[in-house]
Amino acid sequence: MAIKSSNMKPLKDDPQRYRDIYYNAFYKMALKEFLFEKVTQFFDTTVMMRLTRAFEGGEEFGVLGVGLGGGPHELHFMKSLRSHFSSINTVGVDPSESMLNKFQERVAELEPKDESSVSCQLFNGPFSEFVAGSALSKNKYNLITAIHSLYHLGDFETTFTQLASMMKEKGFILVVCAKDNLMTKTFNKFTWLSENTQTLSGLSSTKVREFAQSQGYDVTTVYVPMQWDITEVFDDQSEFGNKLIDFFTQFAFFRQTASSELMDELVNFWRSVSILDENGRVLALSDEEILLISK
Ligand SMILES: C[S@@+](CC[C@H](N)C(=O)[O-])C[C@H]1O[C@@H](n2cnc3c(N)ncnc32)[C@H](O)[C@@H]1O
Repeated sequence: MAIKSSNMKPLKDDPQRYRDIYYNAFYKMALKEFLFEKVTQFFDTTVMMRLTRAFEGGEEFGVLGVGLGGGPHELHFMKSLRSHFSSINTVGVDPSESMLNKFQERVAELEPKDESSVSCQLFNGPFSEFVAGSALSKNKYNLITAIHSLYHLGDFETTFTQLASMMKEKGFILVVCAKDNLMTKTFNKFTWLSENTQTLSGLSSTKVREFAQSQGYDVTTVYVPMQWDITEVFDDQSEFGNKLIDFFTQFAFFRQTASSELMDELVNFWRSVSILDENGRVLALSDEEILLISK
């Protein structure tokens, strides 16, 4: 089995490349806008109804966004929450300062609305440091979000226990996670990827749900079937394809730095788990789930 060479760099150590590939390749290919619609629709119907039953409109509503990034979902949640709660504060945790700044700017741009205030507090660093050193981790939150971020937070069971300890008694944790996609398949087959990139991209929503249920939590699930068009991955001249490969492996400039043997092994695997459509496009089944977790 081929192994990593010394000049291969985990993507998490190259934040500039991470931003570039996330927004300019992965975000587009992974139909994030479609998934965004699904998450926000679910929030505006089911989650809002359950939150307004659980909490009084007059109290301050606290959101904790873990792996917040630019916080597109949390921004939408804040707008919806304003229709019922008079004061909403979102604490955002993320090691990417530029993404947190983007979120802060978006919150500042929210139109003022009578009798409701929105604010945010940011913790620039990994979740483990937030838990270990921030006074904000001692607060209890009405809603905790981990949207496409659980893979990055270290041992999942420890993370879940920490998140649950920060939840108010009638609070909720909202998770968006791959059920079974090209990345879970890749990381489960090539376990050295997790070991070398310190990401748990093999984590699936099934594991999250089963663990939460084993701890006595109730889990509402929304299944979102999806397909990713990964055709460009098989074209070694395609910059877009090479960016996708970086995301799928969580290594920066993978094609340029990995051995050709390793590259071939991955490409062959991706082909074996994909299908060809009638136009010759290569599609990978990439289902996601939205989980709403409560006591
Ligand atoms: C796939 S992005 C999702 C961002 C955002 N939630 C969204 O849906 O657009 C994953 C995020 O997790 C963040 N992240 C990576 N390692 C982390 C850690 N140890 N603690 C907290 N966040 C982390 C990344 O910086 C990135 O913003």
